[in-house]
Amino acid sequence: MVKLPDSFPAPEPVPFGKYELLGRAGRGGMADVYLARPLGQRRFVAIKCIKAKLADKQQFVDMFIQEGNLAVQLKHDAIVKTFEVGRIQGLYFICMEYISGVDLSGILKACASSNSRRLPVPHALFIAVRILEGLHYAHELTDKNGRSLNLVNRDVSPSNVRVAFDGEVKMLDFGIAKAASGLSSEIGVLKGKISHMSPEQVRGLPLDRRSDIFSTAVVIHEMLTGEKLFRGDSEFQVMDLVRKAEVRAPSQANPRVTSDLDKIVLRGLQKLPEHRYQTAEEMATDLRPILANYNFNRSELRDLVRDLCPDAWERDQQISQLGKKSSPKLEAEAKKSKRTDEEDYGELFVDLSIEEELSTMSGGASAKANGQPWWIWLMLIASGALLVLATVLVLAL
Ligand SMILES: Nc1ncnc2c1ncn2[C@@H]1O[C@H](COP(=O)(O)OP(=O)(O)OP(=O)(O)O)[C@@H](O)[C@H]1O
Ligand SMILES: [Mg+2]
Repeated sequence: MVKLPDSFPAPEPVPFGKYELLGRAGRGGMADVYLARPLGQRRFVAIKCIKAKLADKQQFVDMFIQEGNLAVQLKHDAIVKTFEVGRIQGLYFICMEYISGVDLSGILKACASSNSRRLPVPHALFIAVRILEGLHYAHELTDKNGRSLNLVNRDVSPSNVRVAFDGEVKMLDFGIAKAASGLSSEIGVLKGKISHMSPEQVRGLPLDRRSDIFSTAVVIHEMLTGEKLFRGDSEFQVMDLVRKAEVRAPSQANPRVTSDLDKIVLRGLQKLPEHRYQTAEEMATDLRPILANYNFNRSELRDLVRDLCPDAWERDQQISQLGKKSSPKLEAEAKKSKRTDEEDYGELFVDLSIEEELSTMSGGASAKANGQPWWIWLMLIASGALLVLATVLVLAL
C-alpha cells in the first residue's frame, strides 16, 4: 500500500494514481488532507484520504460514495468544488479544489490570542452570510425531476469553514458527515463535534435544513463572542447543554453587538426547529442590512487573515512558488497530456453521467452536456432540421 506523506512539504512527491501528493496539508477525525496535483498539471488540488480503518466498513463506503456523488453536484462560490470521489490503491479519497487559506477554527484561535480577542463584527457577519448563502443553495438543490434532494450538511463547524487568503469563504465537507454519523460510536468521529450540533441532532432525530441553521448560529455566536458557546467537562455535559439550548445573547460578551443582531442569532438558536429561521436565506436576508451598515469589503477579511495567520500565509507563498516551478517529470507528462485547457479540467474529473444529470437540473447547475454548451446542440439540431427541409423541398420540386 502507498506510504502517504506525513509532513509538509513531503521530501519527495508521492505518486497516488493519476496524482502526486506534495505534502500533508491537514488532519481530521476521519481523514487526512493532502496538497496534490494531477500528473501533468501545475494546478493544485486537495486530496482528502479517508483513514484506512473506515475502508473496511461497507456501510460507510456505500454512503461515502453516494454522498460524494452529491457533493460533485454542488456548484456554488461558497462551497468547495469537489472534482472526483474514488478509490486508489484501496484508499477512498475525495479530490477537491485546494483552498489556500485557514479554517475558521484556526482564525478564531489566532483571534483569541490577539489583542482584540475576537473577530470584528463586520468580518464575522460577512463570513456568516457566505456560509448561509452556500447552505441555502445546497438546501434548495433538486433532482432532475424537480424533487428536493433534502441535502443537510450536518457538520457546520469552524473547522469546516475555510477562509481563503483572497477573502473568499468556502464550506467544506458537504456530504460525508452523513456517512460518518452512522458509525459515530465505533470510530469516534463525533468526538468534539457535539458542540456544533443542533438539539435534534444530538437526540438522533431526523434532520432537515433547520439543523444546519442552528449549527450556523452557533458558529456566528462564537465568532461574535470569541468564546465557545456549548462547553463542558464531558461530551455528555455538552450534549445536555445543546439539548436545552439555553443561550445568552452575544451582546453580553461583546458590547459591539447590537440588539438587532442579538435577535437574529438567538432566533437561529431556538431549541425547536419551528421557532428558528426556516431557511438559511431568511437568516441571511436579516443579516445583510446590518453588514451593509459597515461598508465592508472582502479585502478587509483577506488582510485580517493574512495578519492573524502569518505562518499559514508564508506557507501559501511557498506553495505558489511550487506552482510556478514544475518538475521535469511534470513537464514531460504535461507534453503528453491533452488536459491543458483549464475549463476542461473540472469536467474531466466528473463522471459524465453526473454531468448529464446536471444539465437538466435547476439551482445554478452546469448547463453543459458532455462538455458542449446547450446552444451548440440547439444550432446542430436547427441545422439538421433545415437540411431535411431543404432535401424535402428539392425532392418535391
Ligand atoms: N479543499 C481543501 N483545501 C485546503 N485545505 C483543506 C481542504 N479541505 C480540508 N482542508 C483542511 O484540512 C484540515 C483537515 O480537514 P478535515 O475535514 O479532514 O478535518 P476537520 O474538519 O478538522 O475535522 P473533521 O474530521 O471533523 O472534518 C483542515 O484544516 C481543513 O481546513
Ligand atoms: Mg472537515
